[in-house]
Amino acid sequence: MTTDTTTKDTTPGAPTPGTTVLDARGVTMRFGGLTAVNGVDLTVNSGEIVGLIGPNGAGKTTFFNCLTGLYTPTEGEVRYKDQVLPAKSFKVTAAGIARTFQNIRLFANMTVLENVLVGRHTRTKEGFWSAVLRGPGFHKAEATSRERAMELLEFVGLAEKAGHLARNLPYGEQRKLEIARALASEPGLLLLDEPTAGMNPQETRATEELVFAIRDQGIAVLVIEHDMRFIFNLCDRVAVLVQGEKLIEGDSTTVQGDERVIAAYLGEPLANDPGATEAAEVEAAEAHAQADTTTDTAAGKENDR
Ligand SMILES: Nc1ncnc2c1ncn2[C@@H]1O[C@H](COP(=O)(O)OP(=O)(O)O)[C@@H](O)[C@H]1O
Ligand SMILES: [Mg+2]
Repeated sequence: MTTDTTTKDTTPGAPTPGTTVLDARGVTMRFGGLTAVNGVDLTVNSGEIVGLIGPNGAGKTTFFNCLTGLYTPTEGEVRYKDQVLPAKSFKVTAAGIARTFQNIRLFANMTVLENVLVGRHTRTKEGFWSAVLRGPGFHKAEATSRERAMELLEFVGLAEKAGHLARNLPYGEQRKLEIARALASEPGLLLLDEPTAGMNPQETRATEELVFAIRDQGIAVLVIEHDMRFIFNLCDRVAVLVQGEKLIEGDSTTVQGDERVIAAYLGEPLANDPGATEAAEVEAAEAHAQADTTTDTAAGKENDR
């Protein structure tokens, strides 16, 4: 990983629309002989929702891990608001990137509210001694944190379950709680790894609305998801990873229409989708042509016996 030698004066606060929030350049991650992520460039601008799709094992989660300091990329550089990111996940969170995990990571035996409070620790100034001595500063900070945590639970629709143990929540609500906890660090960029996995269609639709609402609050979003309808409804831009490499990047229409994407990943056109009828017609024609060849070949084989 290259180091930043330039000193940039970045003013904290809300980013101006269209500025680059995340800038990943040539990110490569190798595990022994396996190159899980290979020279991936990706930017996310303020006000954007960007999708990252690709088959299982394509390197999507590994790429997220490189962005969040869980892994130090073998090669490449990741910048957040013009600063090279530190290679420690808590520092990355403090810098302004929050994430959720493909395999939910909650404190199962803590309450819903406590889980969100844990997410706030990078934003509270009260230090260790203040917490131990529990002086006025601590109580004030704690009250503010609780207020904000409840606000976030309200936002994701879990306020009524604040006192429940996390492990007693249904799966879909655990995913929402993870989002609330990520938001508690007051990020400028939120990374979501398969946020609708295991959700029913109504929950998925609600999550779509939630992601739009998060974007409307000025938080840029990068989301990995297998649900193509969710991705193409939601994202301003979509990047496709295949075997660790970025195959294509573009708006939903461009990506959906790309033959390589259809071949490598989508497999079948989406029902009720713009261009789906056309794609279905092409597929039918191809299938027809294929059937003719198959018959010919089969007949040929028959003759060969
Ligand atoms: N910590 C690791 N050590 C070794 N190989 C890994 C590790 N993490 C991921 N991989 C491998 O990297 C590839 C990409 O995995 P992953 O990023 O989880 O893909 P995706 O999220 O797109 O399904 C896979 O072949 C996986 O087995
Ligand atoms: Mg994954």
